[in-house]
Amino acid sequence: MKKWFAVIGNPISHSLSPFMHEKWLNENDIDASYIPIHVEEGKLEDAVKALKLLGCSGWNVTVPYKEAIIPLLDDIDESAKGIGAVNTVVKTADNRFIGYNTDGLGFIKSLGPIKPEDRILMIGAGGAARGIVHAFKQAGFTNISVANRTAEKVARMMADLQIGQGITLQEAENNLGSFDIVIQTTPQGMKNQANTLPIQLKNLKVDAIVADIVYNPLVTPFLEAAKEYNVRTINGLGMLVHQGAIAFSYWNGVYPNSTNMIELLTEQLGGNYVNR
Ligand code: ATR
Repeated sequence: MKKWFAVIGNPISHSLSPFMHEKWLNENDIDASYIPIHVEEGKLEDAVKALKLLGCSGWNVTVPYKEAIIPLLDDIDESAKGIGAVNTVVKTADNRFIGYNTDGLGFIKSLGPIKPEDRILMIGAGGAARGIVHAFKQAGFTNISVANRTAEKVARMMADLQIGQGITLQEAENNLGSFDIVIQTTPQGMKNQANTLPIQLKNLKVDAIVADIVYNPLVTPFLEAAKEYNVRTINGLGMLVHQGAIAFSYWNGVYPNSTNMIELLTEQLGGNYVNR
């Protein structure tokens, strides 16, 4: 039977994953398809049964099912356990379904060459930030500060993940010069959200890397502000592409061309290739 893959979520029509995976399947001469599946509220269990029954070889999971899918799988790996969310399901040779989370590692790959000694500042302590901090920890980074508006939330996250320290947004702004990599993970700057900056960037280190996990718009107000300081800026498309590329490699055993995909998606979203 021809292999097929899917992405499940609600809503799903906006997902860029089908475009990305179909292109990679073609490029790598793999005879398979990748389809988007809209799963109605309350129907996740039925949908997972159907995916298994109909021979799906593996699928991605997006909002709002990344946590709810966990009890429906046979096992989850360390990445998904630590984050408490699954974005990729892999079918094993003996028909077991294992959950992984490739979001955090995908983000780290999008930064290009970095060193475990680099000092990292995360802004925001939501689900996306948690995934990234966990991946940094697994990759051997130890110097991680997370700045958040609500102190209790960041304290809980640092206690859960057992790494780094929680700080205030004001402390982050004042001590910005001591960070090599600055990562914006709040929804500020997203299309239809407030255009304010979580922190001002005047103390930014001259050779810092500044990243935003948002890719719509391609250049957020945060990245716009960082560009004024001539530092390297990285938007959220790299994370999207690399989380997909890692999933693709788990399913198919090859790591697809991510650079070309970032260029293609940037064009699709009407921008110029900005990251590198
Ligand atoms: P996700 O799980 O998608 O990452 P989330 O859980 O809604 O998103 O988390 C959003 C993060 O952005 C939180 O850290 C939130 O701060 P609080 O913990 O104080 O709520 C942060 N955030 C959202 N809007 C913000 C704003 N206007 N200023 C500063 N931080 C903001």
